[in-house]
Amino acid sequence: MKNLLKFLPVAAIVALTGLLSLRAADAPKKPITVGFAQTGAESAWRTANTKSLKDEAAQRGINLKFSDGQSKQENQLAAVRSFIAQRVDAIVIAPIVETGWEPVLADAKKAKIPVVIMDRKVKVADDSLFTAFIGSDFYEEGRMAVEWLAKNAGGRVNIVELQGEPGSAAANDRKKAFADGLAKHPEFKMLDSQTGNFRRAEGKTVMEALLKKHGKNIQILYAHNDDMALGAIQAIEEAGLKPGKDILIVTIDAIKEAVQAVAAGKINCTVECNPLFGPKIYDTVEKILKGETVPKFSSNKDELFDSTNATAAVPTRQY
Ligand code: AHR
Repeated sequence: MKNLLKFLPVAAIVALTGLLSLRAADAPKKPITVGFAQTGAESAWRTANTKSLKDEAAQRGINLKFSDGQSKQENQLAAVRSFIAQRVDAIVIAPIVETGWEPVLADAKKAKIPVVIMDRKVKVADDSLFTAFIGSDFYEEGRMAVEWLAKNAGGRVNIVELQGEPGSAAANDRKKAFADGLAKHPEFKMLDSQTGNFRRAEGKTVMEALLKKHGKNIQILYAHNDDMALGAIQAIEEAGLKPGKDILIVTIDAIKEAVQAVAAGKINCTVECNPLFGPKIYDTVEKILKGETVPKFSSNKDELFDSTNATAAVPTRQY
């Protein structure tokens, strides 16, 4: 009995320690809080992108603080500053434009909050200001579009271009890739190039103006996204012309509506740009927060849809 009493405090400590460590393991984990500074809601692509990030966050029990930048960089900068002040665990930014991010990224780095840049790249002198970039290769998309055109233009040469948001990586890279491609095919002529801001309504009004200015000289339309191409199609039809026949249409995104338009012969080619980044973004954020190393840059491999594969692809398009 005397011996038993001697060992009792030790036994109690062991039991208590065991109980405490069990409690720690069983205790509900604090959910991760992520601040997401989205560009806005300029296109169907963007709507699908926002939905992917919101749905995946809900599924994983991530506390998502969402900010709609309404297509203004100053709104995005204010959102990021507010995420820093709230001490979120990580920040995701879909940058409207490439430049102007250094000060706010430096603030996030100073606060030790990892930043994942999504979709469009930023131009910064020091890449250590963000932890990872996950997006698409916009230059490659533009290259695929111009190469498709070079093989399928069938003697048509006069092009008009509808550019995306000025200053955005998506517009800059898609424009540059197309221009570089055209330089290898001097038979083509760029009649005009104007912005439609990635928006359907502007795609229509700008195309109306282009049709007034150039009339039937326009043989090819290159649009930096499907929404502008779909708006332009309305303008082309209202002008009494047949989209896809009188004017060849090459575009980017491959939203379901555009792939359907390819199947219907109104768009000739759409190059995919997949917006469903939710799973990849949060896998990356979770790894970063666990202290694991993640790739600095990763981008999706995109497909191309034309009359050869669009009809078969329509039923499985997810956005
Ligand atoms: O940054 C990706 C581009 O942004 C998409 O092509 C466009 O539709 C969107 O608004």
